[in-house]
Amino acid sequence: MPITLEEGTFPPDAALQSLIEKLNPEQRAAVEATEGPLLILAGAGSGKTRVITSRIAWLIREKGVAPDSILAVTFTNKAATEMAARVDRLLGHSSLAKPLIATFHSMCVRMLRRDIEALKVNGEGLTRSFAIYDESDQQGIVKQVMRRMGLDTKQLTPRTVLSRISWAKNHMVDPQEYYLGSKDPNSERIAHIYQSYKAGTTPSISTTCSSKPSACSKSPVKSASATSAVTAISLSTSIRTPTAPNMS
Ligand SMILES: Nc1ncnc2c1ncn2[C@@H]1O[C@H](COP(=O)(O)OP(=O)(O)OP(=O)(O)O)[C@@H](O)[C@H]1O
Ligand SMILES: [Mg+2]
Repeated sequence: MPITLEEGTFPPDAALQSLIEKLNPEQRAAVEATEGPLLILAGAGSGKTRVITSRIAWLIREKGVAPDSILAVTFTNKAATEMAARVDRLLGHSSLAKPLIATFHSMCVRMLRRDIEALKVNGEGLTRSFAIYDESDQQGIVKQVMRRMGLDTKQLTPRTVLSRISWAKNHMVDPQEYYLGSKDPNSERIAHIYQSYKAGTTPSISTTCSSKPSACSKSPVKSASATSAVTAISLSTSIRTPTAPNMS
């Protein structure tokens, strides 16, 4: 049930009319199709952002949807900033409540910061003060663990270890399971490293920043940057506490 906004909160209907007039027929159809899911495929520079921003304004102004119940996600910070500015202009800066326009990454971090403690099992699990590790942080920890274990980082590279840990996290495989599934000495070593890596990063969330590692950061705000492709935030390893494999 849409929440009806107070009269006068938004620009007059004429503004809405002019918004609609600035759309071509396809764009207009997309803006006005507000019931049920809608998929729009369109090329670069074809007016997608105009559709999305107009649709947000349409939902608020015409359909009475509460602005803060609207979520728009983008891939880059630049797109999110541009979209937010365009929505602001369309709404005439006249509303205190605003739609949430954010990157996938910042939205996910925001949700985790807010609700991650709900995943605690028997008082154990991640806390909201988690940090996000960039690729060099991850490499640093793996190298440290490998040095402690007396392992040769040339024979088994930290990069290989990290990609296997990333695979395990993506498949919700904890160190214990990884160890049990290992079929060769290197996999067993990786299971041990994974166990220590996990302990070393707790209560942090480790992520893989695949495209631009330098854009990732331990800072919660910067780590939300969309320019960093955060590919894996694994909760599984944080809510299960496996028995450490025998490291001797
Ligand atoms: N129906 C239209 N009539 C006139 N100009 C339009 C129309 N739709 C979009 N434009 C203009 O075309 C340009 C590109 O539009 P928009 O930014 O919405 O496209 P886009 O598909 O999001 O682009 P990109 O792929 O770069 O993200 C903008 O300057 C926009 O104002
Ligand atoms: Mg666009």
